[in-house]
Amino acid sequence: MRIGQKLIHLESVDSTNNYTANLLKAGGLSSGTVILADEQFAGKGQRGAEWLTEAGKNLTFSIYLEDVNLSVENQFNLSKMVALAVLDLLKKVGIVAHIKWPNDIWVKGRKISGVLIENSVSQSRGIRSIIGIGLNVNQTEFGSLNATSLQLEMGNFVPTRDVLFSFIESFNSVYDQFSMHPEQLNAAYLEHLYQLKEVRTYRDESGTFDGKIVGIEPSGRLIVDKEGIPTSYDVKEIVFL
Ligand code: BTN
Repeated sequence: MRIGQKLIHLESVDSTNNYTANLLKAGGLSSGTVILADEQFAGKGQRGAEWLTEAGKNLTFSIYLEDVNLSVENQFNLSKMVALAVLDLLKKVGIVAHIKWPNDIWVKGRKISGVLIENSVSQSRGIRSIIGIGLNVNQTEFGSLNATSLQLEMGNFVPTRDVLFSFIESFNSVYDQFSMHPEQLNAAYLEHLYQLKEVRTYRDESGTFDGKIVGIEPSGRLIVDKEGIPTSYDVKEIVFL
């Protein structure tokens, strides 16, 4: 499996994830296709949020993947690989980043990239995944958002196309590596996980508590040591304070 052999470049679209889903319904979308837009006017974030970025300055794109070797139980593996691919791309330009569970990418306490994966299951073609990635490249003003970009971190303008091609390379190599050695994927993800094994403050449905992230379930649920008891959370069930 390789991504990026086919690239669709749009000037403006509501959301590259929606555009990809519509192409898929219409038929004729091949696995590995990358759909890139210079501008999204209704970009979607996680948990129903919007993904707002300045037109023309950043990367907003989706990857369509078909029949990835995933089951419902291990579908978080794809999230892990995407996060590791973004980290790899950043490392190539000297930026050290962390993964904030589930798959936000942070640099020195600010968000540089977000990922929204939308999966569907078809009987004939297995799990079909639309992986939407927003990566801040040349935007330098974020208002009240706690965000950063490649340009802010590197101190110079970076052509978005170069970043996209570098990401495609990183993704293909991460995917190859962990398809061959799936047993190494979880450790690689945990190695870069923000706040792993640190005592920090969180909030769940019963209130605020000091706890320690100790791992991830195969489904992607976060395991936090809460007063000595490993407790697992879905993304909507815990807040990092
Ligand atoms: C998040 O951190 O909330 C996830 C953001 C995901 C944004 C990307 S941009 C390309 C793709 N199309 C969308 O509408 N959303 C994703």
